[in-house]
Amino acid sequence: MTGEAGGPLTGEWDFRGIDPGEELPDVDTSVPHSARIYDYILGGKDNFAVDRQAAAKAMAANPHLATAMRENRALMRRMVKWLAADAGVRQFLDIGTGLPTSPNVHEIAQAAAPEARVVYVDNDPIVLAHARALLTSSPEGVTAYIHADLRDPDKILRDPRLLDTLDLSQPIALTIFGVLHFIPDEDDPWGVVSRLIAALPSGSYLAVQQPTRDFYPEGAGNDRAYRSAGIAFQYRTKDQFARFLTGLELVPPGIQLMSQWRAEDEPQPRPAASEVGAYAAIGRKP
Ligand SMILES: C[S@@+](CC[C@H](N)C(=O)[O-])C[C@H]1O[C@@H](n2cnc3c(N)ncnc32)[C@H](O)[C@@H]1O
Repeated sequence: MTGEAGGPLTGEWDFRGIDPGEELPDVDTSVPHSARIYDYILGGKDNFAVDRQAAAKAMAANPHLATAMRENRALMRRMVKWLAADAGVRQFLDIGTGLPTSPNVHEIAQAAAPEARVVYVDNDPIVLAHARALLTSSPEGVTAYIHADLRDPDKILRDPRLLDTLDLSQPIALTIFGVLHFIPDEDDPWGVVSRLIAALPSGSYLAVQQPTRDFYPEGAGNDRAYRSAGIAFQYRTKDQFARFLTGLELVPPGIQLMSQWRAEDEPQPRPAASEVGAYAAIGRKP
């Protein structure tokens, strides 16, 4: 594999997370990928011409897309900080991690609790290619990376890297930001999330975000741009979002517009609902 994305995947595999014998999938630079579109819109450099073209179309359809993506990162920072600093969580399973973008989940969690342990999961080969940057744990903590698909929760749960890193008898925060809209209803995202929660002990958390067009009566438009680029994209209503949290106790303030979730310390005024259209919540497993 070569390319501006990171060069050939060779060198010392001296960190936990990638098996030296693992076959590394090729990065396909001929079709756009969601991780690289997101990276481009957030100002990253790990993207290709096809991704930039798809991003331009999506931003033309929804001029607020960059604001929404920045707000998703801000949400992730607030939620992970709350989980580590306020809820006392020391283990994280982050699915749909994306290309490394500092601060990453482990940097936020370990700033509050240096011993925090984080397993990252993504199904995009380019994220695997850059996973080294996700594996810069504090000396007291651990990070690991698994190349896998959210739609195969049992594969994730059986992976030795997960089992070596996380203690499934102690609370774990499952974090899924900016991913569920890429899983169409026919792939049963609710069943997938519920299977993962079922494997976690009492006192675990789900922190989750999902784009909606509840605030755009005429439709935001970027869903069509993604689909025309060959990437599934599904908005969900508040009720459909609430189903992800079935059986969990909602942490106050419950289901919120993502830019409003515990956002008192963010710059005010917060963006309008029509600029950030996405729901967010944290639920606790009783
Ligand atoms: C928009 S990025 C979000 C990155 C990060 N979680 C954040 O919120 O900033 C979406 C990520 O989800 C990954 N993804 C999409 N579908 C996935 C699936 N079925 N399984 C695992 N990862 C997936 C993409 O490869 C991409 O890296």
